[in-house]
Amino acid sequence: MVKVALEMEPGDLVRVFGPATLRVSSGLVSVLGAELGEGEFFVIGELRSYVVKGVTASRIDVELEGDARVELASPEEEPYDEWVEVADSILSSCPTPCTVTVLGSTDSGKTSFTALLANRGILRGLKVAIVDADVGQADIGPPGFIGLAYPKSWVSWLRFLEPEMLRFIGSIEPSPLVGRIISACVELQAKALSDGVELIVVDSDGWVEGWAALEYKVDFVRALRSNHVVVMGDDRLAEYIARLFPGGVYKLTRPMVQATRSAEDRRRLRQENYRRFLEGDLVEVDLAKTPVYGACISGYKAEEKLVKIIEETLGEEMVELVTRYPGGACIYVEDQNPALQQAIKELQKKIQGLELMIIPLSTAKMILSALRDGRGHDCPALLVDVDLRSRKALFKTKCKGPFKSALISRIRLTEDYREAARGRIWI
Ligand SMILES: Nc1ncnc2c1ncn2[C@@H]1O[C@H](COP(=O)(O)OP(=O)(O)OP(=O)(O)O)[C@@H](O)[C@H]1O
Ligand SMILES: [Mg+2]
Repeated sequence: MVKVALEMEPGDLVRVFGPATLRVSSGLVSVLGAELGEGEFFVIGELRSYVVKGVTASRIDVELEGDARVELASPEEEPYDEWVEVADSILSSCPTPCTVTVLGSTDSGKTSFTALLANRGILRGLKVAIVDADVGQADIGPPGFIGLAYPKSWVSWLRFLEPEMLRFIGSIEPSPLVGRIISACVELQAKALSDGVELIVVDSDGWVEGWAALEYKVDFVRALRSNHVVVMGDDRLAEYIARLFPGGVYKLTRPMVQATRSAEDRRRLRQENYRRFLEGDLVEVDLAKTPVYGACISGYKAEEKLVKIIEETLGEEMVELVTRYPGGACIYVEDQNPALQQAIKELQKKIQGLELMIIPLSTAKMILSALRDGRGHDCPALLVDVDLRSRKALFKTKCKGPFKSALISRIRLTEDYREAARGRIWI
């Protein structure tokens, strides 16, 4: 670890790349909208960079770990003042309670501005909530969940916040489940309002291009009855959104110099967050007595005639179980193989008009899930294994039952919490 002491004059800007810890030894500095006085700390996480601005003549000690570094930033390349001004102007004009939705493409600074606006609210003494609606780069909860938190002190990274409530979504891509994301956000917003929150800042995902993305984002803003929308660094998006929400939209410049995250960095950040929430004790849940969402095993018994055709076509020894849902059937097979693929095509011809879902038993484990408890909270859980006959399932979770329902995602993980596969129904 390297320690540096910085002397700052009012208006000086330095950019700190984490992992780093700042401590103010004298004076007052501003970082991410927070105003830190003597003795106060601020942690800048790995793969994150922030600007620190001297408010008065001040001295800060910075501890740098790993690849962390500090550099001078010039006002021309740094939108910090603009961000703070817009945050303050929103807070001065917004009614109470106020909901602000932050939109923008990947790496445009959405999460940073969310934290900054929350910090400006905290500075004014407001009761603040953050809704993290980015299922892919979720910070308050694990990936595939959206989260609500009430920060009590300066926000430096959403990942450091304790979740007040999580809502299971079940995908790290928003596109297949936009309705679920919107309704879950509205639920979290309602909870915050009923808890007397005065400012709700909603962070979103970076999917903003193409009709489906825009339709989703517009529905999102409308469903939340957002008082303001902040669009990060994208003139076209800002113009488009401003046409639909006249008077309520702010456009902000994105940071020109910033820490970047590769696809592998992002995967690792997700892996860490899965581990943080899922590493718990094993609990057995009887899925025969518990409603299970997002799983074929909730289906009803298949007609004997249909099972016979399936067994004849795929081979009796291959078919473990068949369940039905209106319009389709789920076929649990021992394993996938090329011969089976061919047989499935044949089967599809024989029973036209019926949707078929093929579930190999070998992959019906290690599925990201949630167990909803008596308070209606979605506890992150990992479905480690399930016996399809008895419906007894083993979950790893930090939460204690009794659980009212189980929610199964489209994401399968490895033993060390990497994503093994995603995008389909697993059990
Ligand atoms: N004022 C700033 N100066 C330099 N870097 C900054 C500044 N504000 C934010 N950053 C950095 O820019 C990067 C992207 O910011 P952020 O994570 O807020 O974007 P995002 O739009 O939420 O990204 P994602 O789409 O991944 O959610 C982060 O490393 C962040 O620390
Ligand atoms: Mg973000």
